[in-house]
Amino acid sequence: MDIKTVATTPFSDQKPGTSGLRKKVPVFQQPHYLENFVQSIFDSLEGYAGQTLVLGGDGRYFNREAIQIILKIAAASGFGRVLVGKDGIFSTPAVSCVIRKTAAFGGIILSASHNPAGPHEDFGIKYNVGNGGPAPEKVTEAIYARTKTIDHYQILDGPDVDLGKLGTFALGPLTVEVIDPLTDYIELMESLFDFGRIRDLLAGGEFRLCVDSMHAVTGPYAHALFEDRLGAPAGTVHGGTPLEDFGGGHPDPNLVYAHELVEILFGEDAPDFGAASDGDGDRNMILGRHFFVTPSDSLAVLAANAKLVPGYQAGLAGVARSMPTSQAADRVAAQLGIDCYETPTGWKFFGNLLDAGKATLCGEESFGTGSGHIREKDGLWAVLFWLNILAVRRQSVEQIVREHWQIYGRNYYSRHDYEAVDSAQAQALIEHLHAQMPHLAGKAFGSYEVAYTDDFSYTDPVDGNVSKNQGIRVGFTDGSRVVFRLSGTGTQGATLRVYLESFEPNIAKHNQDPQQALAGLITIAEELAQIRKFTGRDKPTVIT
Ligand code: G6P
Ligand code: ZN
Repeated sequence: MDIKTVATTPFSDQKPGTSGLRKKVPVFQQPHYLENFVQSIFDSLEGYAGQTLVLGGDGRYFNREAIQIILKIAAASGFGRVLVGKDGIFSTPAVSCVIRKTAAFGGIILSASHNPAGPHEDFGIKYNVGNGGPAPEKVTEAIYARTKTIDHYQILDGPDVDLGKLGTFALGPLTVEVIDPLTDYIELMESLFDFGRIRDLLAGGEFRLCVDSMHAVTGPYAHALFEDRLGAPAGTVHGGTPLEDFGGGHPDPNLVYAHELVEILFGEDAPDFGAASDGDGDRNMILGRHFFVTPSDSLAVLAANAKLVPGYQAGLAGVARSMPTSQAADRVAAQLGIDCYETPTGWKFFGNLLDAGKATLCGEESFGTGSGHIREKDGLWAVLFWLNILAVRRQSVEQIVREHWQIYGRNYYSRHDYEAVDSAQAQALIEHLHAQMPHLAGKAFGSYEVAYTDDFSYTDPVDGNVSKNQGIRVGFTDGSRVVFRLSGTGTQGATLRVYLESFEPNIAKHNQDPQQALAGLITIAEELAQIRKFTGRDKPTVIT
């Protein structure tokens, strides 16, 4: 089999975002587009000759074709071995798990996470490093720099690998192992959680659960975990067969997109527990009967109850949350006497804290929760963590969260998204905010007084790297906050995110609708940012 050298020219739009390169499928289907990016990844790495690469994706449209191309470029580039998931399937957390377990050099994940899939929808590619986590910024910057100068790539002229068969195959000089994408991940989950106790909770059918995989990658994992291993009845997992177009849905586990699950959990005769995960399996949404747990609260509850779970019995080294995530976890950390780190949006910022043993649990408002067991957020891990807590405490989800608020106070929280707005207008809105920042401190808005404003800057406590301009924060004297940020994961125009948070210590006031409790801050956000004027929208596209 020959290695071909193919001349190419750079594409100007291959800058990786918060979570890799995401574009519409037809963009990826342009001649040389994927090849250029993959070669740029390999060109910016050193020392991988003869080493192992882990490869797989969420099964969306173009997954299989992309895998064949990547295998052939990996073969031409000198990798020794590629571990690829059967049928090209691998959830993001499972890739992270396998990279770590096999001490692989790195991995490539094909996914655009929760974005819709299909011939005219999104595709994505992301590189993960040897600790199992997303490539840090210096790596993604090097990849981007390479995409701007690339003039050739090398690819093996060989046959496609049969991804449907487990086993070891030779692709020129490369060994390709098609492996079961479930085995290592399930083994890891069994080492962290008390499966026996969860099985007892589910036995007898008194406690009922419903898990929605939204026709995306977690289906096979969820069937194996909840129905086969934990004994939940068949039919517990909805949308359990991964489809190339995710059944035409938008597998983002939130109140808007996971509405089928929401209807079940808020309907008559609702089960006790509901959970959904996203396209590639790293996000989660947790519901109780007629009850929604915000991701920020979920992190805080997991932190407060961690000692009930075998894998975390020894206690937590620290917790970490992204800046726009509510400060509920900070309150738990303070009471536990451990550090709480505030990082920019993007799971990659947790990697150093986890590697250095500074944090054990991490979470983001964007429905991501995880721990040091891997270096990605992990949707099914969060579901198992909750089930383990429920199996020990034998209370409802709602009781557990309400008791939590009684102890720590309630951080009312909501995020308002304005999706696919004009990029120039979104930029103008941010500049409009910047211009006001020097004059805001001390200013009163109704009963709120501004304590500080800044554009969040993070200095990594491990390597000293500084990340600037991570979102505009307006903090008030009572601890409330409004944060403005432009999303780094959108594929169309710009998405403005407005994060709203207030703190309520008074138990008598814990029963409000968050939109009501936050109404004052919502008005201030509009006044400061002139959202209607700049976006042309009179209401958010998504409220979570
Ligand atoms: C991905 C990342 C997360 C991030 C989320 C939202 O899921 O892995 O770390 O929080 O996107 O990012 P965005 O830039 O769209 O707010
Ligand atoms: Zn995801």
